[in-house]
Amino acid sequence: MKERRKPRILARSFGLINLYMLVLGIESSCDETGIALYDTEHGLLAHALHSQVEMHAEFGGVVPELASRDHIRRALPLTELVLKNANKSLKDINGIAYTQGPGLAGALLVGTSIAQSLAFALNVPSVGVHHLEGHLLAPLLEANPPQFPFVALLVSGGHTQLMRVDGIGEYTLLGDTLDDAAGEAFDKTAKLLGLGYPGGPALAKLADSKLAEQGNARFKLPRPMLNSGDLNFSFSGLKTAVLTLVNNNLPLAVETKADIAWEFQEAVTEILTAKCMAALREAGLDNLIVSGGVGANIRLRERLNAATKKKLCKVSYPRLEFCTDNGAMIAFAGAMRLSAMQAKQQDYSFSVKPRWDLSELQKP
Ligand code: KG4
Ligand code: ZN
Repeated sequence: MKERRKPRILARSFGLINLYMLVLGIESSCDETGIALYDTEHGLLAHALHSQVEMHAEFGGVVPELASRDHIRRALPLTELVLKNANKSLKDINGIAYTQGPGLAGALLVGTSIAQSLAFALNVPSVGVHHLEGHLLAPLLEANPPQFPFVALLVSGGHTQLMRVDGIGEYTLLGDTLDDAAGEAFDKTAKLLGLGYPGGPALAKLADSKLAEQGNARFKLPRPMLNSGDLNFSFSGLKTAVLTLVNNNLPLAVETKADIAWEFQEAVTEILTAKCMAALREAGLDNLIVSGGVGANIRLRERLNAATKKKLCKVSYPRLEFCTDNGAMIAFAGAMRLSAMQAKQQDYSFSVKPRWDLSELQKP
């Protein structure tokens, strides 16, 4: 998809950009191949995504080997498409950013090896980006981006974390999930309700539908750790409570599924909202950003909008398509790092980091 912004020195407003760069971003950490071109003067020029959801659906989850093979098939055609849409050619690229981790080892290796081969062939610098740093910075791709410092809620299929963000690479963990991530809880609950894969968006759709008796919950689910006095989360008990509800209401009528979905969404969004507000209070900040797949949840946005408005705080989100995995966030995070580093690379050897703690990152 072609994406043009008004020419403006977007990235300079973050105090980091020293060098003009056109950066190709490659995301391949899981089941989406995302490619994008980010220009440090003009912003995001183009991006494209191929989702493997249909391919994995029949297996009820991501099959790592199939994921890797599909990334191999998609990465270069998508790169050509993005270059064409941005009216650029390979020789215009002067930096390459790729997701180095965390994620599926094989899938990461595909993106990483393509990125490093291209960087070598074009004789340009490259940088391995932390997938979660990509998510964390995605709201900065939007018009009127939030300014540092802010509190970030990173809420995806693999993570539910509250971070204090003082600048790029300056991340302090405030709270984390003790068990399942919120997206994982959405997906597992959806599976219990027979909503297939990927479950999160399907569950949200059912909860928001007319089938659910909204505001008049037939069922009541617990709010684990709502009043724990810290900023941590726990979602596995919620999933177990849903299992009990399901077993007590078999066979499940579609209205019953919708009512359970509604109450589940209420429980998760209430907890996430309360902890975000507590994190802002504890950090003494009035600026919240939300990113990761669950950040696309409409009910979560409604609740966060209302709660932040009440406390005179600001909240920012990436556009819906940049909540879930995408190449734009990797191109952006990579552009910030490459340009600030005055990137002089290069050693084109590579490794991936399937497990990688965000707090290990340094300022560029
Ligand atoms: O950030 P993401 O694309 O991948 C990871 O890095 O994990 O997030 C995917 C997660 C999945 O668990 C998916 O079910 C969830 O985000 N998700 C949603 C919604 N859209 C995606 N969960 C709740 N409501 C949604 N609208
Ligand atoms: Zn992600």
